[in-house]
Amino acid sequence: MTELVMLMHKTNSEKLLSIENLKTHFYSREGTIKAVDGVSLNIFRGTTVGLVGETGSGKTTVALSILRLIPHLLRTRSAVRSIPLLHRTRSQVFKIVPEVVSTGEIVDGKILFKERDLLELSEEEMREIRGREISMIFQDPIASMHPMMMIGYQVGEPKGAHEKIRRERIREIVLEYLGKVQLADAKKRYYHDPYRFSGGEGQRIMIAMALMCNPSLLIADEPTKSLDVLVQRQVLEVIKRMKREFDFSMLLMTHDLGVVAEMSDYVGVMYAGKLVEYGDVLTIFKKPTHPYTKALLGSVLRIDRKTKIEGIPGSSPDPCNLPKGCRFHPRCKYSQKICREEEPEPVEIEPCHLVACSRAHNI
Ligand SMILES: Nc1ncnc2c1ncn2[C@@H]1O[C@H](COP(=O)(O)OP(=O)(O)OP(=O)(O)O)[C@@H](O)[C@H]1O
Ligand code: SF4
Ligand SMILES: [Mg+2]
Repeated sequence: MTELVMLMHKTNSEKLLSIENLKTHFYSREGTIKAVDGVSLNIFRGTTVGLVGETGSGKTTVALSILRLIPHLLRTRSAVRSIPLLHRTRSQVFKIVPEVVSTGEIVDGKILFKERDLLELSEEEMREIRGREISMIFQDPIASMHPMMMIGYQVGEPKGAHEKIRRERIREIVLEYLGKVQLADAKKRYYHDPYRFSGGEGQRIMIAMALMCNPSLLIADEPTKSLDVLVQRQVLEVIKRMKREFDFSMLLMTHDLGVVAEMSDYVGVMYAGKLVEYGDVLTIFKKPTHPYTKALLGSVLRIDRKTKIEGIPGSSPDPCNLPKGCRFHPRCKYSQKICREEEPEPVEIEPCHLVACSRAHNI
C-alpha cells in the first residue's frame, strides 16, 4: 500500500499530508460500521483535493480522523450532564436514551502531516495542531459557534489559544480578517451574537476564524451546502481569494460536482468507506473509469447534453452489512462473477490515476 501511495501523484511539490490505509470504525447496536476502510490519499502543498461521494460514504469521517475528533466512547450520561438542564430534551431529562450514544476509533493506518504521524501524537500535541496547523470549516457555521458569545471573540479565540498576544491586538487582527472575508460592517458586528448573521455571513466568519493562525491545511466539509446559489458563489470566491493570499492546501468534501470541478486540483471518489477512484480533476471529469464515478457524473443535469440522465440504480449499502467483493456490485451494470467474489484494490491505471475496479481495463 505504501508504494501505491508513493505513486499516487508524482509532482515536484512537497507532500503536506499523507493518509495511508486509514481505517476508522464506529460501533453501533447493529454492528461495526467501517466508515473509512483503507483510504490512502496525498495532499501536496498549495493544492486542493476534492472528496466526493454519496451520503454516508465516509467523507466527514476522513476529516474528523485527520483532526483526531472521532467520538470515542461517548456515553450518554456524561453527554447529558454537559447539556444545561433547560436545553435537554424530555428523554435526556429522564435519561431514557441508551447509555452509549456512539463510539468510534481509528483502527489502523497513518496520517502523516509534515512527516509526523498524527495518530502517534499526544492529545496536547494534537491541540497545538488543531486550529493552528489544520483548520476546519463546516456546512452549518452558525450552529457550530457558541450561540451566546459575540462573533469577534470567537473568531479571535484560536489566536488567543495558540499565541501569547494582547487582547487589543487580537481584536485588531480579527477586524483585519473579517475585512479580508468582506463581512459587511465588521466593526459594529464584531459585538453581535451568531444568530444575527445569515448562513453566507456565518461562513465568512467561519473562514476568518479558520485562517486566524495561518494554517497549512484547511478542511472544508460541505462549506456551501445549505446556501442558495448566489451566496454559494460568493463564499466560493472568498475561499479562492483566501487560498491565493494564504497559500494553504485544502481538502474539500462536497456532493456538488460543479464545486469540485471548479475548486480542486485532484479528486477522490468515495463509495461505502473506500476510495474507488482518484486522479487529477481533468482526468476524473473527462475520463472517469470507475463505474460509480461514471454513474455519479452521468447523474448531473447538463444543458448541453442531449442524453438522458441515468442516475444510479439501487441505494447505498447497509454500512453494517456491506456486500461481499466489490461494494458497488449490486448497483453496477458491469458486474460479473469476479466482482461478487473479490474486493478490488486501487490500481494505478495510468500516472496519477487510481481505480479500484476489477474490470477497469475491460469497461
Ligand atoms: N458518530 C457516529 N456514530 C456512528 N456511526 C457514524 C458516526 N458518524 C458517522 N457514522 C457512520 O459512518 C458512515 C460514514 O459517515 P460520514 O458522515 O463520514 O459520511 P459522509 O460521506 O460525510 O456523508 P454526508 O455526505 O451525508 O455528509 C455512515 O454510515 C455514518 O452513519
Ligand atoms: S469491480 Fe465489478 S462491480 Fe465493482 S465497479 Fe468494477 S465492474 Fe463494477
Ligand atoms: Mg459529511
